[in-house]
Amino acid sequence: MSKINAAITGIGKYLPEYVLTNEELSKMVDTSDEWIMTRIGIKERRIMRDKDKSTVFMGVQAVKNLLEKTNTKPEEIDLLILASVTPDYIFPASSNVIAYEAGLTNSFSFDINAACSGFLFALTTASKYIETGTVKKAIVLGAEKMSSLVNYKDRTVSPIFGDGAAAVLLEPTTEDFGIIDSILHNDGYGLKHLHQKAGGSLRPPTHETIDNEEHFIYQEGQAVFKFAVTKMADISVEIMERNNLTSKDITWLVPHQANLRIIDATARRMGLEREKVMINIEKYGNTTAATIPLCLSDWESQLKKGDNVVLSAFGAGFSWGSVFVKWSYDGK
Ligand code: UT7
Repeated sequence: MSKINAAITGIGKYLPEYVLTNEELSKMVDTSDEWIMTRIGIKERRIMRDKDKSTVFMGVQAVKNLLEKTNTKPEEIDLLILASVTPDYIFPASSNVIAYEAGLTNSFSFDINAACSGFLFALTTASKYIETGTVKKAIVLGAEKMSSLVNYKDRTVSPIFGDGAAAVLLEPTTEDFGIIDSILHNDGYGLKHLHQKAGGSLRPPTHETIDNEEHFIYQEGQAVFKFAVTKMADISVEIMERNNLTSKDITWLVPHQANLRIIDATARRMGLEREKVMINIEKYGNTTAATIPLCLSDWESQLKKGDNVVLSAFGAGFSWGSVFVKWSYDGK
């Protein structure tokens, strides 16, 4: 029997309408467009301002968009994996709620928390279900309401993050396309540099945790930067070498969108010019688990069957990873 690969066969997305520009942010905290553009590379980000609308809402919209674009009935989906650090509830899993609201009546679903690398962890996991023949149609979704974790009085964090959701459909193929290889890593040493201090079982919410602003993102930017810039480049080169890919062979690098300087350093180490790198950080900022599928969505029309695509990410945990995809359809 020929080997089954998991091929990406469609992309869907949802972005909230509200655009928070650097100019507006500069009125909220002591920052400037010039500082943010030079140090990070973000011009604006989307924010879900409607208090009743959450990660689940955005996830449902992205899933519906994907189903519509791929002409798939919701009941055909066997598996939904959500990558997110901003689930609606501690329990149950937000993927369960999304599956229910999107009408995925025949699916099982679960959440994965690998922060900014979450989409790659979820994609790798879903691909294994497809490769073993257990699942025929899987949706891998990255959805985040990062604005729910951002302290808009903290200038070191507020420029970075944005809200959004995007999803891909995975289906089996016996052709030589799809998820070809994947490398994933974690190092729990990273905890001290990037986390949310309270809200979990160690420090459940109290008046004190709220007064101390412990429910926001805590990030030591420089320390995270040093790891990110090395690890994301290392793992991208490792996946190239393991698959005998030279820079000429690679059609696209799809990097996690945390900082333009990290993206450029990764591309440089891989020997790639900017034209081969998908970059939309300027428009959406860092949407954590949603950055990579949002890039794929923005560039879908330029993707061609047979393209060699390398996806790479680094984030909290620390977690990092790289996935080599042989693209399986011509985008329209
Ligand atoms: O996606 C999850 C993983 N996260 C990441 O990959 C983030 C990695 N880290 C970074 O991208 C960068 O470290 C940041 C963008 C977070 C910060 O950039 P940086 O170049 O490392 O700046 P810094 O923290 O070293 O701060 C430099 C200066 C400081 O002032 P002094 O001490 O030199 O006077 C900061 O107070 O810039 C100041 N600063 C700002 N100034 C204007 C920090 N934030 C701002 C701001 N506007 N928003």
